Amino acid sequence: MKTILTKSISQAANIVISGGIVAFPTETVYGLGADIFNENAIEKIFKAKQRPNDNPLIAHIGNLMQINSLAKIITPNAQKFIEAFFPAPLTVILPKTKKVPLIATANLETIGIRMPKNKLAQDFLRECKTPLVAPSANLSGKPSPTNWQAVYEDLNGKVDCILKGEVSEIGLESTVVDCTGENPLILRTGAITLEQLQEIIPETKVYKVSRNEQPKSPGLKHKHYSPTAKVILVESGKCRVESEKRSAFIGLEKPKFEIDFAKICESVEEYAQTVFDFFRQCDRKSIKTIYCEKVEEKGIGLALMDRLKRASEN
Ligand code: TXA
Ligand code: MG
Repeated sequence: MKTILTKSISQAANIVISGGIVAFPTETVYGLGADIFNENAIEKIFKAKQRPNDNPLIAHIGNLMQINSLAKIITPNAQKFIEAFFPAPLTVILPKTKKVPLIATANLETIGIRMPKNKLAQDFLRECKTPLVAPSANLSGKPSPTNWQAVYEDLNGKVDCILKGEVSEIGLESTVVDCTGENPLILRTGAITLEQLQEIIPETKVYKVSRNEQPKSPGLKHKHYSPTAKVILVESGKCRVESEKRSAFIGLEKPKFEIDFAKICESVEEYAQTVFDFFRQCDRKSIKTIYCEKVEEKGIGLALMDRLKRASEN
C-alpha cells in the first residue's frame, strides 16, 4: 500500500469517507483514524497496528452532538466532566449504542469518547462528518507517536494516509475515566489530572487492578510504551551508576555520571511531552540502557510515572 503524506485536511478526510485509514495529529499523541461505523475500515486499523483484537478503541468526535450516536445514556458524572473539560485530553467511558459496531469496542458494551482540543484534529474530524475510532498511531507495544515522523517509522506502507501536523503538545495519551459506575474511576492517567477531576467530582479515584481480576481496561494488560532499550528508573539527583557504553538519560537534573546521550527537561510538562520521542531516538542510536529520572506523582507527574513504570517493566 502506498501511504500518502499530506497537509490537506480535505484530502485526508476524503480518504476516511471512502473507507480508508488515516493517521492524524492530536494534542496527546497521533491517532490512527477510521469511520466508527465502517467495520472493514476498523479491521484495517487492528491489522496495521498488529493490535490484539481484545483491546477496544476510543471514539473521537468533532462536535458534542455526535455523542448521541455513540452513547446510549450520558450518566450525570460523564455530563459533569464533559461540561467542565471537553474538548480535552480526556476520554469518558459510557454504555454504547447498538449503532457502534462491536469490533470498535472489542465486544464491550461500553465506548470511550473523546473530543480532541488540537485545532487540526478538530477541523479534520469535522470534515470527516462522522466520529472516528482512533488508537495511537504506533505499532502495538511501541511508544506512542508524538510527531508524524514517528508514525511514518511504524506505519509507512500500512496505512492509507498520514495527515502531517505539529508535534503533539502534551505527548502522553488522554486520561481515560470510566463513568458507567456510581463513582468515576480513572483507568488511565493523563493530562487531565486526578486533582482536576476531583475538583468536579470528589469521589473520583484511580483504578488499581487487584490480583486475580480481569483489568477493567483491556489495554492495561498489554505490553506498552516500550523502547527496545532497557529502561531503568532512578531517584532524582541521587543516582550514581558505573559509566557504561551506549546509555542514555532523560530527566530534570543533569546526572552525575557519564552518559552518551541525554535530555535535560525544564519542567515535568516538557519531560512528558518529549519522553516517547526520546525513547525512539535512543532506539535509532542503538542505546542499550535508558535511565529515566523519577518525578513526583502529582499532576501530570502521575501519568508520566505510570508510563515510565510500564516501560521499565518490559
Ligand atoms: O490520547 C489518546 O487517547 C490517543 C489519541 C489518539 O486520542 N488514543 C489512544 O488510544 O491512546 P489507544 O487505543 O492507544 O488507547 C486506548 C486505551 C486502551 O488502554 C484501551 O484499553 C482503553 O483506552 N479503552 C478504550 N475503550 C475502552 C472501554 N470501552 N473500556 C475500558 N477501556 C477502554
Ligand atoms: Mg496506544
